[in-house]
Amino acid sequence: MNKKAFIFDLDGVIVDTAKFHFIAWQRLAASLDINFTEEENEQLKGVSRVNSLKKILQWGKKEISPEVFQSKMDQKNEEYLELIKTLDVKDILPGVHDFLLELKAKEQPIALGSASKNARPILEKLGIKDLFDVIVDGTNVTKAKPDPEVFLNACEQLGYDPQESVVFEDSVAGVQAANTAGMISIGLGDPSILNEADEVFAHFTDMPQDYINTLLSKNK
Ligand code: BG6
Ligand code: MG
Repeated sequence: MNKKAFIFDLDGVIVDTAKFHFIAWQRLAASLDINFTEEENEQLKGVSRVNSLKKILQWGKKEISPEVFQSKMDQKNEEYLELIKTLDVKDILPGVHDFLLELKAKEQPIALGSASKNARPILEKLGIKDLFDVIVDGTNVTKAKPDPEVFLNACEQLGYDPQESVVFEDSVAGVQAANTAGMISIGLGDPSILNEADEVFAHFTDMPQDYINTLLSKNK
């Protein structure tokens, strides 16, 4: 059977954690007297923890010492971990679990390509870690999205060319990373925000019947 490497972002694609990242960043920004909006947050989706804090400081025109910078990153992560403490299978976004199981049934290779350093424990909490053949997360890469390193690393480990890979992303930075790598980019979210993606759906449940087969025969 026809095969492709199916690479999934985590936050906002598999699980509804994007809102918790937003809340944690908003509290962090407030602690620095910086006003942080939902529009700005859109630009932080898919962006690493360190680059996110740099951007918030830039927007707020604030400078802090390296020591305070580190402690603010720790503070944000503690806040975030507190918010996701009760995360479980019910937080998996609509249709994702079935989609993953369908890929498994078709013996398609599956990878995670996430910027998050919390990706592995989150997948464990959700009980779906074993569905992934390869996991590349924020602990494995040096360059953050929109650099394609995370996705290139995933498809290389699976033994596929970028042209034979499909990426599912909810962030502008992630869609750009997939496009730069020459991979098919499927956006999950608002088409006016993810307008660079090859196709956009609000949820996996909005994909047409047999969409996996459509993707298998699709070229970039
Ligand atoms: C991405 C999120 O998946 O991971 C970002 O979209 C987040 O919002 C980034 O900042 C890094 O996550 P973490 O868990 O390592 O702070
Ligand atoms: Mg995301």
